[in-house]
Amino acid sequence: MIKLIRTRSEFLDYRKDLTGSMGLVPTMGNLHAGHLSLLKQSLQDNQHSVISIFVNPTQFGENEDFSAYPRTLAADIELITNLEQPVTVLAPSTDAEIYEDSTELISAGEMGQMLEGNLRPGHFEGVLTVIDKLFQLVTPHKAYFGKKDYQQVRVIQKFTRMHFPSIDIVALPIVREPSCLAMSSRNHYLSEQEKTLSLKLYRSLSYVEKILTQDKDLPKALSAIQDLMEQDDRFNYFTIRKQSDLTPPLSLQDSLVILGNYQLGTTRLLDNIEVP
Ligand code: PAF
Repeated sequence: MIKLIRTRSEFLDYRKDLTGSMGLVPTMGNLHAGHLSLLKQSLQDNQHSVISIFVNPTQFGENEDFSAYPRTLAADIELITNLEQPVTVLAPSTDAEIYEDSTELISAGEMGQMLEGNLRPGHFEGVLTVIDKLFQLVTPHKAYFGKKDYQQVRVIQKFTRMHFPSIDIVALPIVREPSCLAMSSRNHYLSEQEKTLSLKLYRSLSYVEKILTQDKDLPKALSAIQDLMEQDDRFNYFTIRKQSDLTPPLSLQDSLVILGNYQLGTTRLLDNIEVP
């Protein structure tokens, strides 16, 4: 059963009498199995679950795909309509329902400037700004994010620890296509040929994972990355970082994550593999 809410005042009205734990799944819509796994976890963990569907303008750069971003509310509702527990869909009808009259951006600090932040200046500031608005409006106990956007999860965790310490951030594993391509709303942009080429990203991450887990050799893994990047200029970045703060690792004592961003046409694909 779905309850669709399109305005702030209607949401506040719905929220005010609710007791019990609230789970929030923030999305930009065009839902796929990855989003569904977040929603199912929220339904399992909480008495109430809200999935927000809002293409957030402040996290897109000037030359990015904000206007082309797929807006598929009817299909999104269809996808989640048969879940066994009730779901509230918060799909604001205008930007003002979320932002009211303030779009002052929240700083994402140093962690927000590296990797994706370097490719997309201002992106994480936009993400944190909308997350702040959503947390204030929905007042969730838990919020669910996919690890495909690994840096996003870390930036949001850090922000939440400081500003909403009672909200638990739940980060769930990447859901993959049968080909192993990480699910993403932007995969729709890929041609058949690009879909085939996209497999290079996961294969490259897996290759480096093997060096780290089997050979246990960080310098060898770093030099393999360098070779792969020299052979293929589609990598926007390909790197090994510490899971905790995304800075470069000094040794294999740290929990690591291998992160890649791969350019196919105008689409940038993200993927990563955690190495405990
Ligand atoms: O990951 C996304 O879809 C977006 O960045 C998010 C977290 C919903 C904020 O707009």
